[in-house]
Amino acid sequence: MKEFARKQREENRIVGLVPTMGALHAGHLSLIKRARQQCSSVVASIFVNPTQFSPSEDFSKYPRNLPADTEKLESAGVHCLFLPEAKEIYPQGYSTYITVEGLSERLEGRLRPGHFRGVSTVVMKLLQIVQPQFAYFGRKDAQQATIISRMAKDLNLDSEIVVCAIQREPDGLAMSSRNVYLNVTDRQAATVLHRALQAAQLLLQNGIRDASSLQAAMHRVLKEESRAKVDYAEIVDAQTFEPLTHINRTAYVLIAAKFGETRLLDNMLVDFSDTGQLTAEL
Ligand code: PAF
Repeated sequence: MKEFARKQREENRIVGLVPTMGALHAGHLSLIKRARQQCSSVVASIFVNPTQFSPSEDFSKYPRNLPADTEKLESAGVHCLFLPEAKEIYPQGYSTYITVEGLSERLEGRLRPGHFRGVSTVVMKLLQIVQPQFAYFGRKDAQQATIISRMAKDLNLDSEIVVCAIQREPDGLAMSSRNVYLNVTDRQAATVLHRALQAAQLLLQNGIRDASSLQAAMHRVLKEESRAKVDYAEIVDAQTFEPLTHINRTAYVLIAAKFGETRLLDNMLVDFSDTGQLTAEL
């Protein structure tokens, strides 16, 4: 891979990296499409990263389907598929980890200790190996994308982190590799996440800015679905992930809930134009 990266630099190619853990869906393919628009050489990596799973999580059960993934990547026009082995990424004696402090301890970080340390470490390594000018991440995992952007800035990385829109199923469910775990009943129930965000969106569009009203509206909708075991429905500053009481700057409205054994995330990005006009993007 290092050789490939060197050749790309020599040929003055613009390299884009789409890091994945496989089990590819239309969300991943939208990242590749975006990368192809900006870059002359698109690398996709598939690596189910052991260090971002806690002992109680689904590392061994994480969906793996290399033949189907390879076919999808080929038809999406990826120029290079990078499939590192665990011993290449974490050779014997490996002992260097990256922690983005503060940001990594909140919300998902509090519920999944060590998760973001594993994510930032593997992404840093992939960026070092592939040396892309651009690297693409989905906004569905908003905290992950924010942590990676922070890391790239803090460590003066040459790669620009591009955060891409959430891709949704026709009924609003955010695309995720974990959706395949849902049984039919939970798959239907999971649409409540999108509906809860829509309730908050409606209030925002009607000028309501206080977080407690938005949270109450989301919880009202979430309560209608008894199968949803809600971890949080929070409104946070989009840079720091500190809770906001009033939305007066770029913010995320975030939901995490479990359906059966499957934990799903969804969010809405609230932004302001130069004229102060608010947009709430699902
Ligand atoms: O979002 C994912 O699939 C993973 O967390 C990532 C960014 C590929 C790192 O392993």
